[in-house]
Amino acid sequence: MTTFDVVVRGGTVATAADRFTADVAVADGRIAALGHDLAGAEVIDATGKLVLPGGVDGHCHIEQRSAAGVMNADGFESATASAARGGTTTVIPFAAQPPGASLAEAAADYHARAARGAIVDYALHLILADPRPEVLTNELPPLVEAGHASLKIFLTYDIRLDDERALAVFAAARRHNLMVCVHAENHAMIAWLRERLVARGHGDARYHATSHPRHGEAEAVHRAIALARLVDQPLMIFHVSCTEALAEIRRARAAGVKLFAETCTHYLTLTRDALARDDGRGAEWICSPPLREAHDVEALWRALEDGTLATVSSDHAPYAADATGKYGAGPAPAFTDVPNGLPGLAFRLPLLFDAMVRRRGLRLEDFVRLTASEPARVYNLHDRKGSIAIGKDADLAIWDPTRRVTLAHALAGDGAGYTPFEGLEVQGWPVQVLRRGETVVQDGEVTAAPGSGRFLPRRGGEAAEPSGRPVAEMDAGRNFGAKLL
Ligand code: URP
Ligand code: ZN
Ligand code: ZN
Repeated sequence: MTTFDVVVRGGTVATAADRFTADVAVADGRIAALGHDLAGAEVIDATGKLVLPGGVDGHCHIEQRSAAGVMNADGFESATASAARGGTTTVIPFAAQPPGASLAEAAADYHARAARGAIVDYALHLILADPRPEVLTNELPPLVEAGHASLKIFLTYDIRLDDERALAVFAAARRHNLMVCVHAENHAMIAWLRERLVARGHGDARYHATSHPRHGEAEAVHRAIALARLVDQPLMIFHVSCTEALAEIRRARAAGVKLFAETCTHYLTLTRDALARDDGRGAEWICSPPLREAHDVEALWRALEDGTLATVSSDHAPYAADATGKYGAGPAPAFTDVPNGLPGLAFRLPLLFDAMVRRRGLRLEDFVRLTASEPARVYNLHDRKGSIAIGKDADLAIWDPTRRVTLAHALAGDGAGYTPFEGLEVQGWPVQVLRRGETVVQDGEVTAAPGSGRFLPRRGGEAAEPSGRPVAEMDAGRNFGAKLL
């Protein structure tokens, strides 16, 4: 009888498709067998527990500066340790090109820092703040060769791209089979509203929400889709927050546009009321797009159910609740002086498990799909990540579905010093987490060494491939013979 390196015995294994009782056997870091009465050098008793694929968080910011230059409160070690505590074993943070700088140097810099600190496995999205021709022509191809397969662009902030530069990025992405992720908000509306609000004395955190109009998000989503559609380039719309943006996505998908969209834990669980709290701490809930209203929360849940939204990420963007972060401009800052973003890597899975499986009536399989399998597929990591099947990496979250936990920052252990989810009670918790068969978290204790997380080189894969249905003007058969793609 074969003795495997590790056997996780007797749990209920869940995938995006199925659930069944089985032992999961690990050899050389990969899942080697699913069966009964398997023998292992190390045996983990999972009786009464769920055995879930480790989470895949497709959108998080680590060791990155805000639009105004404020450094995240987390390095790769603390951020990925907090991810692992919450059952997430793969993350995709960013390598951010500063305007005017080299993309290749930015990628090398983030790469080196991740390699030193990461505890879970990772890929990187490349943020293109300055897609000048030499970057797209000379710097991008070697990065693609090195295993980078997704780009992020912004339509707001100082690093925003105008339509022409966004089109240049979409065309380059198409040439190289890359996914493009977009932060879609209308910058002019935000800038105009910010100025008017502050001039009228409305600097309080709640006006951050007022300054990011929902139809400005919808407009930018519409524009990003239209531009990408011109060159038949698939898109991922990041952090969808409101009903109006969902309507644009639904309309485009119904018209056959190849399009993915995500929302984030905080848009599913919090509202803009957090910005208006009377203890003066509203700044700690400032993120972009902003937290919206209860009816948006409900609309986002419906969009998860009907498939409009493909994944849920954390958009972890932690800034400490002190003068190094949220309060750099003083204890009662104007919303315009607060770095945007919330910490969320640690509690994404516990919050979503509780909300989806216990309270909202989604299936356990849907939870696995939205938080692990589908992000792995969209970002082409699914040959190794996001499911429990023979040959995949043995990334496993052993989950106690009965454990009740009151969320507190100490459980997250990231660098933010607070959690926007403080005091929320959830049921269901990862009691042991394995990464490539090695226990990296046991009862909240991180046991893996910094730098033991691995870079995941990848290609764009199927999700990033053009739909093959060009618009008429780009189709040589319908545009008088011009070959434009
Ligand atoms: O507020 C946010 N989301 N900050 C992080 C950067 C971004 O826009 O994704
Ligand atoms: Zn963004
Ligand atoms: Zn983000």
